[in-house]
Amino acid sequence: MRVLLGLTGASGSIYGITLIKTLHEMKIDVQVTATQTGHQVCLYETGVNIKDLSEDLDIPYYDIDNLFAPPSSGSHRMDAVIIVPCSMGTLGRIAGGMSSNLLERSADVALKEGFKLILSPRETPLNTIHLENMVRLAHAGAIIVPPSVAFYTKPRTLEDIILFHTGKILDLLGLDHSLFSRWGDVE
Ligand SMILES: Cc1cc2nc3c(=O)[nH]c(=O)nc-3n(C[C@H](O)[C@H](O)[C@H](O)COP(=O)(O)O)c2cc1C
Repeated sequence: MRVLLGLTGASGSIYGITLIKTLHEMKIDVQVTATQTGHQVCLYETGVNIKDLSEDLDIPYYDIDNLFAPPSSGSHRMDAVIIVPCSMGTLGRIAGGMSSNLLERSADVALKEGFKLILSPRETPLNTIHLENMVRLAHAGAIIVPPSVAFYTKPRTLEDIILFHTGKILDLLGLDHSLFSRWGDVE
C-alpha cells in the first residue's frame, strides 16, 4: 500500500506526525508533504521539523510546490491521500478544484482516479462555507474524519486521544492495529 500524507496549517500537527510514524512502523509505503503553514504550525506545536523527520525515517518528502513530484500524476500508483490536520483553506481549495500545490493536486487526483481521499479537518466553530465545502467533498468521494474524542474509550492521556484518531484512519485504510480498544471487545 502506498499513501501520500500531507500536513497543513490547521492545529493538530501531532496527529499527522503520529500517523507518519505509525505507517512507517507498519512498513507502509508513505510519502510526505506539508504546506508552508503546515511546517510552521508543526514546528510551533510539536518542535518537529517534518522534512527532517521524513529524512530521519528515510521517507520520501516532496516540496509542496513541486508539481513534478510523482503524486501529481494519476498514472503514479497510489492507494490513498491523507491530509491530517486539514485546514479550512486547503479544504476549500480542494473543494474548488484549485490544484494550486502538490497536496491539492494529489487530492484532486485521488478524487478523479477513485482512490481514497481522507481529510481530517480541524476548526471550531464551523461556518457554512466550511460545512458546504465538506459536503461537496463528501459527495465527490472524500472521507471526512475530524479528530474527535470518543469518551466511551475512557481516554486517560493525550496519547490515548491521538492514538484513537490514528487508529480510525488505519481502519479506513483497512489496516489491522491495536491502537485502541474496540467497543464490544473489552469488559
Ligand atoms: C497556530 C495556528 C493554528 C491554526 N489552526 C487552524 C485550524 O485549526 N484550522 C484552520 O483551518 N486554520 C488554522 N490556522 C490558520 C491556517 O494556518 C491558515 O488559514 C493557512 O493559510 C492555511 O494554509 P494551508 O492550508 O496552506 O496550510 C492556524 C494558524 C496558526 C498560526
